[in-house]
Amino acid sequence: MKCHFPKELSEIIRARFPLIYLQTFEEERALVMLKDLCADSGKNGLNRPLYVWSHTQGLKKYPDGQIDSSLLSPYQLLDHIEKSANSSLYVLLDFHIYLDDQHRTPDNDRIVRRLREVGMSLRNANLARTLVITSPIVNLPQSLQKDVMVMDFPPPTQMEIRTALDRLILKQKGAGGVQVFLTEEDKQQLCKAALGLTQQEAEGTFARAMASNGVLEASDVDFILAQKQQILKKSGALEYVGSDFKLEDVGGLENLKKWLEKRNRTWMDEAKRYNLPALKGVMVTGVPGCGKSLIAKAISSLWKLPLLRFDISSVFGVYVGQSEANMRRALQTAEAIAPCILWVDEIEKGLGGASGGEGDSGTTRRVFGNFLTWMQEKQALVFVFATANQIDRLPPELLRKGRFDEIFFVDLPSKEERKQIFKVHLRRRLTSPEARGDFQETEQILDELANLSDKFIGAEIEDAITNALYEAFFDSRAFRLDDLKRIIINTPRFADMQADYLQSIRTWAKQRAVPASQTFENI
Ligand SMILES: Nc1ncnc2c1ncn2[C@@H]1O[C@H](COP(=O)(O)OP(=O)(O)OP(=O)(O)O)[C@@H](O)[C@H]1O
Ligand SMILES: [Mg+2]
Repeated sequence: MKCHFPKELSEIIRARFPLIYLQTFEEERALVMLKDLCADSGKNGLNRPLYVWSHTQGLKKYPDGQIDSSLLSPYQLLDHIEKSANSSLYVLLDFHIYLDDQHRTPDNDRIVRRLREVGMSLRNANLARTLVITSPIVNLPQSLQKDVMVMDFPPPTQMEIRTALDRLILKQKGAGGVQVFLTEEDKQQLCKAALGLTQQEAEGTFARAMASNGVLEASDVDFILAQKQQILKKSGALEYVGSDFKLEDVGGLENLKKWLEKRNRTWMDEAKRYNLPALKGVMVTGVPGCGKSLIAKAISSLWKLPLLRFDISSVFGVYVGQSEANMRRALQTAEAIAPCILWVDEIEKGLGGASGGEGDSGTTRRVFGNFLTWMQEKQALVFVFATANQIDRLPPELLRKGRFDEIFFVDLPSKEERKQIFKVHLRRRLTSPEARGDFQETEQILDELANLSDKFIGAEIEDAITNALYEAFFDSRAFRLDDLKRIIINTPRFADMQADYLQSIRTWAKQRAVPASQTFENI
């Protein structure tokens, strides 16, 4: 996929936005991109010199001009830029330290003021001069919010990663030692596995794969995916979920399963001639413990797409603009990994505040707005699989028609579904001959168990089976049906304890959702 970011940035710079804040961990890659834009004299280029400033070195024409170390202080720099008589682009490294809204000092206040003044004077000047502040975090005082355009530098595309990989292979080959056994297709797979990482992370991961055994080969894809899992985890909001659950491991929910099966591979080239709309995602709500999370894991193996769990509540940060930036970055990473499934578990916990104006200066609402806009506009296949238990906490805009492809409601399992859930879990648990003894889950036994477990949720069925197994283990014997039946009879049911809650979510669902099972009248 081609990266449109340089063109977008160039348009903004040519439209005379004087102050741009580029959020990125990849200072060097951003500088190379800006250098190329500045050197480009075509219609999308900037055709002007690029200067880079840091408070340790001063100002330098990039990449290899003289350093002017008389301009170490931010005031001197801003004065210099305001007076300069050339069209140019200035990149200010680490300038965010002067803008920290949490630790204001009189000095910092003056720098913020001066930056606003310079911004205003550049906007009204004839010469095209632009300041770009690059920083890994967005750290903007309230007073600068309206003057500064905040942008995120997206992670590298597959093509950029490929360039880095080729460069690395060449370097390693030159140094001797490392052997590379890769076909063209293997190289593509390796680069695909590294999508979502920064260029430095991708290069580091390739280098480690080479260093581990002196060889770079097709099987290193697993190593790269495992590394990516670690890296995403550290970055907070996204987590790679590896899962070997299959659709057969989920009992019931036939409607939802069929819906998912019918949409398998619709993002592949072969589906293009049907001109199908791009998939947006589904919202799955309903009774807790009935398989919502389980099905998220199962889609990943059905569709053979990576599953990313997105914890929306962790995007919220203390600095102004930080939460929005974190949200954009997480969504960009997901887009870089596309096609993939973005699993937003218990979405109400992250976005619930957006419906009620809960005094956090509108941040939740803005972050939520960013999420909605992204859902509307996303081009890449990032299939949103959102689950929610407390539907009444969700902002109505999220549920309006057209946002998700479908809203499903998972009810208590029907008798037939309970039979299937018993079957799934008995098979999963009773794998050794010692534990199983001569027990067989026949139709008749499953029927009996399903009758006894009326109004059970899926999790209660699984629990009853494990508890019966504890009995068997404690007495050093095989599993017994009698234990299971006794446990079922003595289990207090969630459905009885929470009857009012159940009634209210069912009433809600009848008007707004489609049953995940075959009918609504399950019980
Ligand atoms: N339909 C089902 N088929 C098989 N197992 C199930 C089913 N429903 C629930 N279970 C079992 O119950 C456990 C809880 O299910 P799961 O985590 O999917 O529920 P959930 O709907 O996401 O609940 P919550 O709303 O509390 O997050 C799972 O580990 C699973 O083993
Ligand atoms: Mg769940």
